[in-house]
Amino acid sequence: MGVTSISVILAVGPASRYLIEKLPKIKDVRIMEIEHKIFPDGESYIRFPEEVSGEDLIVLQGTHPPQDRHLIQAILIGENALDLGARSITLISPYLAYARQDKRFLDGEAVSIKTILKTFHQVGYRKIYTINIHSPWIAEDSPIPLIDLRAERVLAQHLKTVGLGDSFIVSMGKKGEEMASMVARALNTGYASAESSRDRRTGEVRVELGEVSAEKAVVVDDIISTGGTMASVIRELKKMGVKSVYAACIHALLVGGAVEKIMSSGAERIIASDTIPNSYTEYSVAGLIAEAIRRELR
Ligand code: R5P
Repeated sequence: MGVTSISVILAVGPASRYLIEKLPKIKDVRIMEIEHKIFPDGESYIRFPEEVSGEDLIVLQGTHPPQDRHLIQAILIGENALDLGARSITLISPYLAYARQDKRFLDGEAVSIKTILKTFHQVGYRKIYTINIHSPWIAEDSPIPLIDLRAERVLAQHLKTVGLGDSFIVSMGKKGEEMASMVARALNTGYASAESSRDRRTGEVRVELGEVSAEKAVVVDDIISTGGTMASVIRELKKMGVKSVYAACIHALLVGGAVEKIMSSGAERIIASDTIPNSYTEYSVAGLIAEAIRRELR
């Protein structure tokens, strides 16, 4: 069940301000742009420009890089809202930081996402919406309801729009296979899943992929971070003689030399959503965010 009032405030945090103009107008939703600045020492300042007492707030605040700053801002916003008498706070974080450290890969490691979810719960958030979370299974153990909105259909629709709807879809691993099958099903095209493994210490990625005989392929992944995984798969496809290969993702972190790595592996271009602001954004998740807001109004 959603929030209990007939209207809500969509409180937009500094990390997600760029999404405001993309959101459709939603009846009974009032947008509040949260004031913010960074103090000279790097700390965040948050101020609500209007009363929130008695209101239900949906906080839109991505936790993409700089993750730690955006996380602290989400905490300050939530805590401030409840302290000022808000009735409820719900978080929409299109990219949820730390979700990739979802277990203890090496002895002694922190299971970071557990801490992040626990912290949001303790702040008082009643629910979190995110998009294509790296490890959907963490929702089962989460102390706070975690709703994973899926952007595969939005990506598939975009591929159609830009004339790539007839491409062969390639992805990585078991989780990737689900993503590839969703995109391929929406496009009514074929797909294959590569097996990839990463050396936890060196970060080196190894890929195994069966023969692909398509002319045009789109490699889809939930996240492109260093670009190592994507570049390795693209290289394999180019070796097999696939003429045009596109690198598509939901979350484009594109850290370090990721773009260079992917382009030099033979990619035609990088196709990303706007869960993270970047210059490779070709499609928007604003519709999914609007869907989450509407769900809360029911
Ligand atoms: C792995 O499970 C993910 O789906 C991505 O393949 C991975 O996070 C990409 O990382 P990178 O770009 O650093 O290879």
